[in-house]
Amino acid sequence: MISSIGTSYIGTPASRVDGRAKVTGAAKYAGEFNATGLAYGSVVTSSIAKGRIIRIDASEALRVDGVIDVLTHENRPRMASTDAAYEDDVAPAGSPFRPLYDDRILFGRQPIALVVAEEWEIARFAASLIRVEYKEEAHVTDVYRQRGKAVAIKPGADLFAPPKPRGRAKPAFAAAEGRHDGEYYVPIEHHNPMEPFASTVLWDGDGRLTVYDKTQGVQNVQRYLCSVFGMKPDEVRVMSQFVGGAFGSGLRPQYQVALAVLAARALKRSVRLVLTRQQMYGLGYRPAMIQRIALGANAGGTLDSIMHDAITVTSQYEDFYRQETGWSGLLYKCANAKYAHKLARLDLATSCDMRCPSAATGVYALECAMDELAVTLKLDPLDLRLRCYSDRDQNVDQAYSSKRLLDCYRQGAQAFGWHRRSPEPRSMRDGSELVGFGVATGVWDAMQMPITVRIVLSANGHAEVSCATSDIGTGTYTIMTQVAAEMLGLPLDNITIKLGDSTLPQSPVEGGSWIAASVSNGIATTSDAVRKELLGLAKHVPNSPLADASPDEVALADGKLVSKRDVSRGVSIVDAMRHGGVDRIEQEKSTGFRHDGSHAHNTHSAVFAEVKVDEQLGVIRVTRVVNAVAAGRILNPKTAASQIMGSVVWGIGMALHEETLIDHNFGRIMNPNIAEYHVPVNADVHDIKVTFVNEPDDIINPLGIKGVGEIGIVGVAAAIANAVYHATGKRVRDLPITLDKLLR
Ligand code: MOS
Repeated sequence: MISSIGTSYIGTPASRVDGRAKVTGAAKYAGEFNATGLAYGSVVTSSIAKGRIIRIDASEALRVDGVIDVLTHENRPRMASTDAAYEDDVAPAGSPFRPLYDDRILFGRQPIALVVAEEWEIARFAASLIRVEYKEEAHVTDVYRQRGKAVAIKPGADLFAPPKPRGRAKPAFAAAEGRHDGEYYVPIEHHNPMEPFASTVLWDGDGRLTVYDKTQGVQNVQRYLCSVFGMKPDEVRVMSQFVGGAFGSGLRPQYQVALAVLAARALKRSVRLVLTRQQMYGLGYRPAMIQRIALGANAGGTLDSIMHDAITVTSQYEDFYRQETGWSGLLYKCANAKYAHKLARLDLATSCDMRCPSAATGVYALECAMDELAVTLKLDPLDLRLRCYSDRDQNVDQAYSSKRLLDCYRQGAQAFGWHRRSPEPRSMRDGSELVGFGVATGVWDAMQMPITVRIVLSANGHAEVSCATSDIGTGTYTIMTQVAAEMLGLPLDNITIKLGDSTLPQSPVEGGSWIAASVSNGIATTSDAVRKELLGLAKHVPNSPLADASPDEVALADGKLVSKRDVSRGVSIVDAMRHGGVDRIEQEKSTGFRHDGSHAHNTHSAVFAEVKVDEQLGVIRVTRVVNAVAAGRILNPKTAASQIMGSVVWGIGMALHEETLIDHNFGRIMNPNIAEYHVPVNADVHDIKVTFVNEPDDIINPLGIKGVGEIGIVGVAAAIANAVYHATGKRVRDLPITLDKLLR
């Protein structure tokens, strides 16, 4: 690990550097940019789930004063005609959706027309006047109905295919002394970021566009727009400096950006398009899934057999899936394991990533099944997990770069007071409420992606650090500032971060919890180059105390380049640059994939939940959650704890509230709003305690960073479900656990 000299910024609870801009409204979001002559779009969406458009009658809409045009598949400007042109960096296999391309309807709420007007209200009113005739075709939107026709993904076929089996799971299960076999259901869940999807396209003349877009990857959107509209790279600049939550829904370009660009090109005007909350339910979602887990154990409480099958939902035109079953393979010591994953293709939009995709769901099933196995074996559920603990990734039989999960169990149990749990269900009470304690393990990847960072250091001791990455609300601006301040030996206030602009140095999409590790190590790499260049200058200062120093022997601290052996020997940045006759040092370096395949690299957690259940009404309150997380070096305990806390709140929603409901007769989502799609509100959120265990890791990357954007949700729904069982003696396996299911 890199140790630092002088002031340390990494690891301190610095407040968000963009906090003031956000609370004062200075931070602008995609739908807030203005331009002279700005036109406003409003989308018309399909009321059927499958079929063809026979006729779109826009005559009434066009007669409304202030309506500029109505774009449909019949009159739109030219768009690319190959699937490849619509494939973005993170597209799954298949044939990506093309907005306003032709007369085919692939899912309910598909965009079929765009009204553009001088005012947004006019556009929205006129959109209500569009008349559409359809030819309907039979649709299927119910995963249970499609279950028999689900298609298998071959184990080991690709990155997200189920892991290869090991041993002989079936006979081992049959011979096991303790067995559990259960089916778990997770419904479709929709991302509900506060900021709706929005794009403002500025027509800069000559066909050049500046696109303010809500996205997790400006360069992904930029490349997508270039290929869909046949534009040159320098003709489109995509900006996304602030994002009001996205959680995976902004990894792929969404249709509003394509439509806004389409309209700007058709009208040669600036155009803004903001989706309504209802229209947000026509985008991607967490796939519904049916999972079956069979666990076999010997009487000593160690696993002999794991069988995990998943059926997950995708569209008819793209095969989106993630590896739900892999977590069962990886986590616990078990010689025999077998997995299967099938895809149920439905007449819906393609499912997509949602916070901790596959682990939030796959580990939910696994950790409920482990709880049920503990009941069968008459073991404390935490004790069962300790007996099955593995210090190697069981899928690939590799050591971890670091794994302090045992500390998570220990510290979490202590902070929670797990020892106060009485084993029998229904044995703990608080007045009219039954009390339950539940535990679950969490696990997620710790990845690092190739990235490029530019640093411009000025002679006045200010540095500008730039990279085309995003800050989706996770605190990227802040941790980049901290890492740069530490690496360059400058105060936080002397660092300016530029991100969210496709013209900046290369970044992957912000996802998978990989940006903190990627961009921080990227900053470290580029800072090394800055330091080397500074040393070259410092050596030539008269009587330089660093004349014989090598780059490894010096560090930047307190505005100076100093000898690591004797910090009193140094040259200030100002002196070095002045003597060298330079007023700025600019370096741009790329950092590659870190992982060489020699170690497994994961984050872990132990989640403890207390619920209180009203015995008469079945109302469940999650009164306490302790989430103990092992995620390498924590760059900023304040922003990191916020990530985990937000994840726990979402885990409460997953366990108790969230469910997208579809009327399968019409193939239509019935609750496309936050009134009827329930998410936790303040009254649902009680005591949440976040603990980061100390987890040094000098293998994973030079800074020992793993990332915390997603691990916090994993295990939360399972810990709550297990606590509900402990409180009531009733096991509800299909989420969300609503009171009707509990009282049934
Ligand atoms: Mo995340 S679901 O990779 O934004």
